[in-house]
Amino acid sequence: MDQTDSVVVVEHLEKRYGSFVAIEDVSFVVERGEIFGILGPNGAGKTTAVECLQGLRHADGGNLRVLGLDPRHHAAEIRRRIGSQLQESALPDRIKVWEALDLFASVVPGGGDWRVALEQWGLDTKRNARFGSLSGGQRQRLFVALALVNDPEVVFLDEMTTGLDPASRRVAWDLIRRMQDRGTTVVLVTHFMDEAENLCDRLAILDDKRLIALDTPSGLISRHATKRRVLFSTDQPDLTWLDSSQHVTAVHRTRDRVEVEGTGPVLAFVAAALIEHGIAPTDLRVKGADLEDVYLSLTGTGRSD
Ligand SMILES: Nc1ncnc2c1ncn2[C@@H]1O[C@H](COP(=O)(O)OP(=O)(O)O)[C@@H](O)[C@H]1O
Ligand SMILES: [Mg+2]
Repeated sequence: MDQTDSVVVVEHLEKRYGSFVAIEDVSFVVERGEIFGILGPNGAGKTTAVECLQGLRHADGGNLRVLGLDPRHHAAEIRRRIGSQLQESALPDRIKVWEALDLFASVVPGGGDWRVALEQWGLDTKRNARFGSLSGGQRQRLFVALALVNDPEVVFLDEMTTGLDPASRRVAWDLIRRMQDRGTTVVLVTHFMDEAENLCDRLAILDDKRLIALDTPSGLISRHATKRRVLFSTDQPDLTWLDSSQHVTAVHRTRDRVEVEGTGPVLAFVAAALIEHGIAPTDLRVKGADLEDVYLSLTGTGRSD
């Protein structure tokens, strides 16, 4: 791999809080122009990893590079060249949109013109609005505009869409794609599988301090997911005979909706068994494995953190 195109390099990262090990031997590389996703259960170490990269925390071991610089020694220079998403609480309710942009632009010399950012992110009509009066989607756009006001080469977004309604999440996705279009590398921590699958070029899955998978979304799915689901509706009360059909591993039922889990040619076997029992559902269909299946099978379900 050509290291000159690597915007972020993480080699054997280790981080402890006191005697508690939060990250143990994590390595990955983010290439220029990628949207790189980091997934993992609560407490896996995602925030710790991106904070170490931004020079907000000091790694205890390993080798980190952001834009070729070591965050342990060049945190200030790195922060000038990266964008970082703010948490919801980071701005006072009374600050006006233009004031926030002006403030941020003034602390990052050489940054872009915030008037352009206002227009670019559809905030021109909200210029004089106070932060506290903005909708969730408008706040998100302001955070993105603030993160990009210094025209960064790489942005770190930690759960940017958590707490947003579905429409605002779509707006946020669009904003993230626009960041990529303008050449910015994006490192995105997320809990949402659809977001990871739709938006990210590659994904790292962290679990319990370690990296457990790293690939494109489709690579992860084809490598790790073999499960298929067959779905149909029936008012037939007894389906116990389905349990013993070939290639069926589990049958779940909610009122008239049935979901059969299985492998390989399970659809054909379920269809044959249904016909044999006089059931011909009009909505019989198969659903291939998705990223959520991969994630749940790799990280384990029901594990407490
Ligand atoms: N400042 C801190 N002091 C002590 N432990 C911490 C601190 N920050 C995080 N941790 C612990 O480190 C682990 C990883 O946390 P974090 O990086 O926030 O995980 P994630 O972002 O994946 O949910 C968790 O067990 C968390 O409780
Ligand atoms: Mg976190």
